Amino acid sequence: MRIAVVPGDGIGGEVVPAVLPALSLLSDHFRLGLSFETFDWGAERWLAEGVGLPSGALDMLASDYGAVLLGALGDPRIPDMAHGRDILLGLRRGLDLYVNYRPFTPAGSDRAVALFRENTQGLYAGVGGTVAQGGRPAVAIDECVYTRETVERFLRYCLRTLSDSGRKRVTLVHKSNAVPHTGRLWQEVFRAELDRHPGLVGSDEYVDSFCYHLVRDSSPYEGIVASNLFGDIVSDIGAALMGGLGLAASASICPETGYALFEPVHGSAPDIAGRGIANPYATATAAALMLDHLGHHSAAVPLRRALASAARSDAATPDMGGHGTTATFIGEVMACLEKDLSDESTVSHG
Ligand code: NAD
Ligand code: IPM
Ligand code: MN
Repeated sequence: MRIAVVPGDGIGGEVVPAVLPALSLLSDHFRLGLSFETFDWGAERWLAEGVGLPSGALDMLASDYGAVLLGALGDPRIPDMAHGRDILLGLRRGLDLYVNYRPFTPAGSDRAVALFRENTQGLYAGVGGTVAQGGRPAVAIDECVYTRETVERFLRYCLRTLSDSGRKRVTLVHKSNAVPHTGRLWQEVFRAELDRHPGLVGSDEYVDSFCYHLVRDSSPYEGIVASNLFGDIVSDIGAALMGGLGLAASASICPETGYALFEPVHGSAPDIAGRGIANPYATATAAALMLDHLGHHSAAVPLRRALASAARSDAATPDMGGHGTTATFIGEVMACLEKDLSDESTVSHG
């Protein structure tokens, strides 16, 4: 199976290449037959050629590649992020990856909270416009658009997945007091879909007080479902509860086709790009999510074990409390992985 690799901009170009040797090692060891092809979509190409997501890219990915591993997009030279929307939102929408799964495990907890973000519509639907006067925006509109079909297919998948994972509680995050139309649609579909899962207890919270409660005490939350923008914001809070954006991973999935894109939650981090200290942990756990998704659970387990062990070492990057760099952390991950895999062969063959 071929994996399309899109490092993108800034630290995307540091954390993605850092993770590939671990994936290759696991692919060789477990005979997964994964191969990786890197694409240069990002700010440089946009500035040089005006090309974001090249034409034909979506069809090529869908027919020739099993999944996409992405770093981040974002470049100070393109302040309106036009290339990022073209590439990143183009991939998410173009491949109909309507479920964005962003699990986070709060520090001190041993249980991941399953956050699901709708990934194609809402305020990201691309409906809006600007009326200019004297070369300046005088009227600006971004519409929040949700169709019943989108909300239904999203919530149906989320509740089924939460139920299958043995979770008991699910919270809908909304703002129906101020934004009533889409809010009501979400609440109504949520209640209807909950009726299909008697084992799940559903509640809904306004996004503002939800964020307040989550930050103060995340322990009551097991599953969270949210619209596109609210899910985006809550996923950064989830990352903060884990210990930082360097740790949080994300999978964008189309349940019908099984197609998926894996990436860290964080962006291109221009403030630390080029210094060699970006944490590749989030990208590596996104890679572990990819291995799980492709059915290679036996390879994801040692990768997570190696990451956990390296994260506790002094080789860890500064955001994890270490004194290391991207390279020393990954060096430690590779050493843990090699030891783990050779112990495993000793146990199974010896
Ligand atoms: P960011 O996520 O890039 O960075 C926020 C903060 O977290 C920064 O202080 C950064 O140094 C730190 N950080 C992020 N990832 C880290 C890592 N792996 N290791 C250590 N520290 C890390 O958010 P931002 O600064 O608001 O955005 C920068 C650019 O990235 C913008 O252009 C934005 O649009 C874009 N962005 C892209 C994505 C994406 O591609 N999915 C996500 C978020 C932001
Ligand atoms: C993310 C990012 C993107 C989003 C931006 C860069 C368009 O913040 O992946 O969380 O809003 O989805
Ligand atoms: Mn975000």
